[in-house]
Amino acid sequence: MSSSLFDLTNKTAIITGGARGLGFAMSKALAAHGAKIALFDILSPVSDLSALRAEGVDVDYWKVDVTSKEDLEKAVDEVKAKWGTVDIVVCAAGVARDSPFLETSIETFEFQHKINTLGSYLTAQVAASRMDSTRGGSIIFIATLTSHQAAPAQRISAYAASKGAIRSLVPHLAMELAPLNIRVNSISPGYMMTDMVKGLEKKSVGGPVVFLASGAGGYVTGQDILVDGGVSKW
Ligand SMILES: NC(=O)c1ccc[n+]([C@@H]2O[C@H](COP(=O)([O-])OP(=O)(O)OC[C@H]3O[C@@H](n4cnc5c(N)ncnc54)[C@H](O)[C@@H]3O)[C@@H](O)[C@H]2O)c1
Repeated sequence: MSSSLFDLTNKTAIITGGARGLGFAMSKALAAHGAKIALFDILSPVSDLSALRAEGVDVDYWKVDVTSKEDLEKAVDEVKAKWGTVDIVVCAAGVARDSPFLETSIETFEFQHKINTLGSYLTAQVAASRMDSTRGGSIIFIATLTSHQAAPAQRISAYAASKGAIRSLVPHLAMELAPLNIRVNSISPGYMMTDMVKGLEKKSVGGPVVFLASGAGGYVTGQDILVDGGVSKW
């Protein structure tokens, strides 16, 4: 049983980009603390949801393109109709293109900004407008370590800028949504450096997302949490 500080029973969480990768890993972490899970993605979930359901997880999938406000409104309304509330939103849908700055096209730049920045913005906007201020809410954006510092192994300026925009949104939305009792934060994950740490990152984003989603993070808003194993510090 989870400690009451981290308890998410009777909470509904929407996770965009939840069909695989970090989004799916964070969904499992939230579910482990009792949250009902709505996976929003353009892809079908890579894992069999019936296995999760057999473990007692209340989980469902909606085909949603986060760049479509219409898709988002329809799906968030269906989540509310199914489970009654929307309490937690994790904006993890994202794309990254390795592309040297001098060769990056407008299309490559716009593709990443449309999904990463506009998609996250719309997701937060639609979800926040449907949250219940008497229950409160938590919006969690997924930024990246590479919006804080360059990554020598990659050429990802347009991607980094799209995620830097996410971090800039956080204090503004935190301020505007505080009267509605909605907290807004971001997580900046690092990347897997070697086989030795492969998989650890997926686990390590689970803790911070549960913290920010739950009462344990109840006085935390407007922040970015770097989850990089210390890489940015030495
Ligand atoms: N993996 C890393 O090392 C790392 C590091 C820092 C940040 N991130 C961020 O974490 C998030 C998840 O990354 P990941 O590594 O799990 O990637 P991933 O490619 O495995 O997952 C991204 C998901 O987003 C979905 N998606 C893409 N476009 C979409 C759209 N228009 N509408 C709905 N869903 C869409 C994809 O279908 C996919 O399921 C991303 O935002 C990424 O930028 C990842």
